[in-house]
Amino acid sequence: MLDTQPIQVEKATESKISKVDFSNIQFGKIYSDHQFSISYDGENWIKPIINAYKPLQISPASPALHYGISIFEGLKAYKHEDGTVAVFRPDMNFERMNLSAKRMCMPQIPEDVYYNSLNALLDIDRQWVPVNPGTSLYIRPFLFSDDDFIGIRPSQRFKYMVITCPVGAYYSKPVRVKIETHFVRAVEGGSGYCKTGCNYGPAIYPARLAQEEGYDQLIWTDGKYHKYVEESGTMNLMFIIDGKLITAALGDTILNGITRDSVLTLAKDWGVEVEERKVEVAEVVDAIETGRMQEAFGAGTAATIAQIATIGYNGKDYDLPPVEGRDFSNRVLRMLDDIRYGRTEDKFGWLHTL
Ligand code: COI
Repeated sequence: MLDTQPIQVEKATESKISKVDFSNIQFGKIYSDHQFSISYDGENWIKPIINAYKPLQISPASPALHYGISIFEGLKAYKHEDGTVAVFRPDMNFERMNLSAKRMCMPQIPEDVYYNSLNALLDIDRQWVPVNPGTSLYIRPFLFSDDDFIGIRPSQRFKYMVITCPVGAYYSKPVRVKIETHFVRAVEGGSGYCKTGCNYGPAIYPARLAQEEGYDQLIWTDGKYHKYVEESGTMNLMFIIDGKLITAALGDTILNGITRDSVLTLAKDWGVEVEERKVEVAEVVDAIETGRMQEAFGAGTAATIAQIATIGYNGKDYDLPPVEGRDFSNRVLRMLDDIRYGRTEDKFGWLHTL
């Protein structure tokens, strides 16, 4: 635990920051100067260190490489006008990470390890939190097996790390999404509710097929009947139908998105009717065709609020109403930004400031 072991800090000899064009940041391409890591030796968390961002040394027999024994999180830090750095709802990521860890037979990350590493890393790389509108510092905590063993069993040794990267928009314009009716992302009893690499890797091939047809992403449907819409590859899905906010209820196959939860909280606070339930593909298509679908958007940490322009289903494209007239999602994005960038009261206590 960090209570007993202070983080060793080895500053990078040279900063890369002067080489970064902050007016044109591509998501996930540029990493800040430092990384945090701590090892788990089977009993204790040991050797917490912050040092220069650099390649890892890992056993070629690591179960992370062979069996996907690896989980991750994604959260963002925002720079306020007065220089304050604020992380958005890190408590939810902490809980979700430990839920994923349990599912993957990994040790729980102690709360002090999580928060002390976040605070120390953001402090040393504070100047990497960008200031341009719509930008933030994406924080990627991850935990993976550091065993040296080929065989299927719970791992004993692990490494927890945190890296950060300045980012802009994940999607630069409203997206075209296709309802997937053959491939499956998650099933009842599976690990769809976790943030493990195992859920993302196999989704790339179906998404690539959809991209070849001109779509940006997929809408996954349930693994049994392809009857219900679940989530998209990078975000939860939300619809405004007849003035109500409708989204798939949480369960084994749906990630408990932090942006999803924030949107639902704001909607309830504003008196918008919210339904978390099974959402049939037929209902989505019918609502578009009859003009009752006023808005459709994705909600995710990377994607933030991603407007959906078109939904493809069974070889047909269904266009959604223009983005400019989407009162709810535009208001939600404005409010989330106002909270995150410190322009309005943080009435739900969502910000962790440094
Ligand atoms: C996130 O939203 O943080 C994710 O991990 C999704 C990934 C597409 C970047």
